[in-house]
Amino acid sequence: MKILMVCLGNICRSPLAEGIMKAKVPQDFLVDSVGTISQHEGEHPDKRAVKTAANHGIDISKQRSRPITQADIENFDKIYCMDIDIYEDVISKAKNEEQRQKISLFLTAAGEHKTAEVPDPYWGDMKDFEEVFQLLDKGCEAIAAQLKSSSNP
Ligand code: 4NP
Repeated sequence: MKILMVCLGNICRSPLAEGIMKAKVPQDFLVDSVGTISQHEGEHPDKRAVKTAANHGIDISKQRSRPITQADIENFDKIYCMDIDIYEDVISKAKNEEQRQKISLFLTAAGEHKTAEVPDPYWGDMKDFEEVFQLLDKGCEAIAAQLKSSSNP
């Protein structure tokens, strides 16, 4: 199972989602993250995201930002988008129905109906990063359970 987390810059939300998901799925699952913009390409995650993950025992410090490619949409089995703009952007890059089927809003896929969007903490403070961590942790728990049961019939 190959899982891709997508946000805008690939320095705040999706690196956290990658780190959290890796801690919840078997080792033979591949988990990666990307952004829809290339502005931060090559950078490590935002220091506040690194610190927030470390507070929960997760090391995301070695990740590096990269923009999504056409090959990602072809190769990954599940593509989870952090907000509606990201979802629309990724869907617009899909070439066919099979690719479109792989793409979903992260919180919707997680069965979270109160809010569809993981808020962008980039302009916020550590409290916003912690709130995003909690939202992602709960969502990853639900998605990991679904994926584990669908890959172990
Ligand atoms: P992310 O947060 O999409 O969660 O990585 C952002 C990172 C960078 C920018 C915006 C959001 N930016 O405008 O550079």
